[in-house]
Amino acid sequence: MSYAVPTVLIVDDTLSARRTLESLLKTEGYRLLFAASGAEAPVVAVREKPDLILLDVMMPDMDGYEVCRQLRVTPELSEVPIIMVTALDDRASRLRGLEVGADDFLSKPIDWAELRARTRTIIRLNRYRLLSAQRQRYELLIRLSPDGIVMLNAAGGIILTNEAAEALLIPLGNRALRGAPLQLFLLETEQARFLEAFDRVISGQAPLERLETWLLESADTHPVAVEISLGRHQWEEHPAVQCLVRDISGRKAAELERNRLFKEVTSAYDVTIETLALALELRGKDMGGHGRRVAKMSVRIAEIMGLGEEEIVNIRRGAFLHDIGKIAIPDEILHKPGPLSAEEWTIMRRHPDVACELLAQISFLRPAIVIPCCHHEKWDGSGYPRGLRGEEIPLAARIFAIVDVWDALSSERVYEPAWPEPKVIAYCRNHSGSHFDPRVVEVFLDILEKEPLPAAA
Ligand SMILES: [Fe+2]
Ligand SMILES: [Fe+2]
Repeated sequence: MSYAVPTVLIVDDTLSARRTLESLLKTEGYRLLFAASGAEAPVVAVREKPDLILLDVMMPDMDGYEVCRQLRVTPELSEVPIIMVTALDDRASRLRGLEVGADDFLSKPIDWAELRARTRTIIRLNRYRLLSAQRQRYELLIRLSPDGIVMLNAAGGIILTNEAAEALLIPLGNRALRGAPLQLFLLETEQARFLEAFDRVISGQAPLERLETWLLESADTHPVAVEISLGRHQWEEHPAVQCLVRDISGRKAAELERNRLFKEVTSAYDVTIETLALALELRGKDMGGHGRRVAKMSVRIAEIMGLGEEEIVNIRRGAFLHDIGKIAIPDEILHKPGPLSAEEWTIMRRHPDVACELLAQISFLRPAIVIPCCHHEKWDGSGYPRGLRGEEIPLAARIFAIVDVWDALSSERVYEPAWPEPKVIAYCRNHSGSHFDPRVVEVFLDILEKEPLPAAA
């Protein structure tokens, strides 16, 4: 059934009979379809779902009785109104027609006024019956929906609610639901956002809007998190907005719990990393607070250079762990009271590769691997272990390289006192473009000039 123009299917094997019916009905404004045989009728009817079928009885291949019987056993056509058009006027033929499911009869020759009156009445009754059945089904669907359904008029006032919506809204105050604006049941801070979504839907700017928001708190409840989906609707021929209100407090609570657990695990990771870094410093003996200072300064440079949150977390972790590969360096080399031999240097220079091997095994540290692996690479390609050059060196490692050297030179070492700041700055500037990435040097020196130094642990 189409909602726009009622459709009438005319089934008759003779062209002249079809033409007669066509000329009688075309002024009624129906959409007219034709089947020229009994066999064709069910095919057209299934495809088009007409509002009424005018069915000739006497047809050669399949007569009207058989067509009618077939239509009635086809589920989607079992209730389509059928008027049998027959030259037969005897009682037996009519009884047979009723037996196979015809709703009414018209005798040939056809009386125009009678045809018009009967088609109009049957179509009107049938449409009313279908619409009413649809409306009942729709209302049942609304009533049974586990989600709240609220119908709003064009002014935003509540026209209809189902039980689930009432269970959510009624405890929120003494306000009667019918006629009340739905936004008044939301937290005050949420109302403007809801109204904007409502306006977009009622004006046709958006077909659908969805927002997560909060209902008011009642005497016995905390504010309930809800998701409201708004869609444009028609209610008793007026524009309306249908709102599906879903309680998502369970989902929100699960999200909060997941975030809490994530933070807990992340913080446990970071404490582990920092403890490990401290253990490394204690073994190195001369680096009190080095890990924490270089981590802070690297993070500051990364922030100014606009790196993302996740990259910054990995820079911080990588900075803490930059020399973890020294775990594999024997004490006699690590603590040698004098310059290293060529052979000892070869061993010492393995520490970035050792770090790579170690950290590659730990999934949450894998993204932080670049600093421990590449912190001795130099901008001009003269570093180790791979001799990477320029932007081949990951940015995190380029940032870290200058910070590591700056902190080492600024701290007291076994055989050398701490350098004064101007000397350290001059060193960094002089090695811009050779050891260090010039862009990073610029940001770094700017920080030294303008910001207080990050406090040591
Ligand atoms: Fe190192
Ligand atoms: Fe270092």
